Amino acid sequence: MVEAAVAAFRYYDCHPAPADLYAEVIGGLSREPRSIPPKFFYDEAGSRLFDAICATPEYYPARVETGIIRRRLAEIAACVGSGGVLIEPGSGDCRKVRELLAAVRPCAYVPVDISGAWLRQAACRLAAEFPWLEIHAVCADFTAPIDLPCRPGGARRVAFFPGSSIGNFDPGEAVVFLSHLAAMVQPGGGLLIGVDLKKDAAVLNAAYNDAQGLTAAFNRNLLVRVNRDLAADFKVERFRHHAFYNQAEGRVEMHLVSRIRQRVRIGDRSFDFEPGEGIHTENSYKYTVAQFQQLAERAGFEPVRVWTDADGLFSVHYLAVR
Ligand code: AVJ
Repeated sequence: MVEAAVAAFRYYDCHPAPADLYAEVIGGLSREPRSIPPKFFYDEAGSRLFDAICATPEYYPARVETGIIRRRLAEIAACVGSGGVLIEPGSGDCRKVRELLAAVRPCAYVPVDISGAWLRQAACRLAAEFPWLEIHAVCADFTAPIDLPCRPGGARRVAFFPGSSIGNFDPGEAVVFLSHLAAMVQPGGGLLIGVDLKKDAAVLNAAYNDAQGLTAAFNRNLLVRVNRDLAADFKVERFRHHAFYNQAEGRVEMHLVSRIRQRVRIGDRSFDFEPGEGIHTENSYKYTVAQFQQLAERAGFEPVRVWTDADGLFSVHYLAVR
């Protein structure tokens, strides 16, 4: 049988409660200052725009992280160790994990993503490319504690969380999230995580204000999406993309700023904007190596190794659960 040559592929639907776009948008626009959470950026157009951002010369994180992992693959694989279970929260298209899988040869890979259809597709493609690899795809909201439905043989667990996605949490939330990961991988397990570093504000400002305007389009697409999914009437061109490094908070902030005085309707609700009034759409926290290690220690991890690029733009940490 052909199937006999292929390791197991399983799909688990943990029925994540769909995020309530309406409640979160109405709630966020009713608060002062106004905000909409960044998780809503990633509809189909938003995911494409994010990929395009990663290819701009200004947006260094994706490129630099890939370079670090490629150059240090042997050392990274030695930390992760072979034969364990590699778990990736927010696996998306499972693109970043490929080189790692080939180098580490875990006994199983567990991609976790809230977007079921995408997850199934991506994991199926991966299964075809890595016929020796057992894949357990889990459709779940990784921001809640994940109770893995599969427990392959009590093997050692390592989580992979690349891309500096951790930057979207504020530091307190990041500690809570990292503690969930620590509980999931258990003592003896570890975490391989990509974290964007603090640096010259000009470099950060350029990274979130690319010359092609892709980050601006990504930010504004949030309103396009709200218009489509909630029958709202945002005039998208009446909002300006505003992204800047907030030195005091150690984060890049993105906002959509009203160019004029205007009223926006969402269903039977309406929201008035004054000129210059903004909607806060994203925080992207930046850490020094030491700051991130302290944060991870508060979550129960012990720093083992850290790799950075020669310019000190980005860091990849391996941490073990105490
Ligand atoms: C995917 C959250 C890591 O914060 O840099 C890119 C998203 N926003 N350009 C980031 C993003 C604007 C990105 N993360």
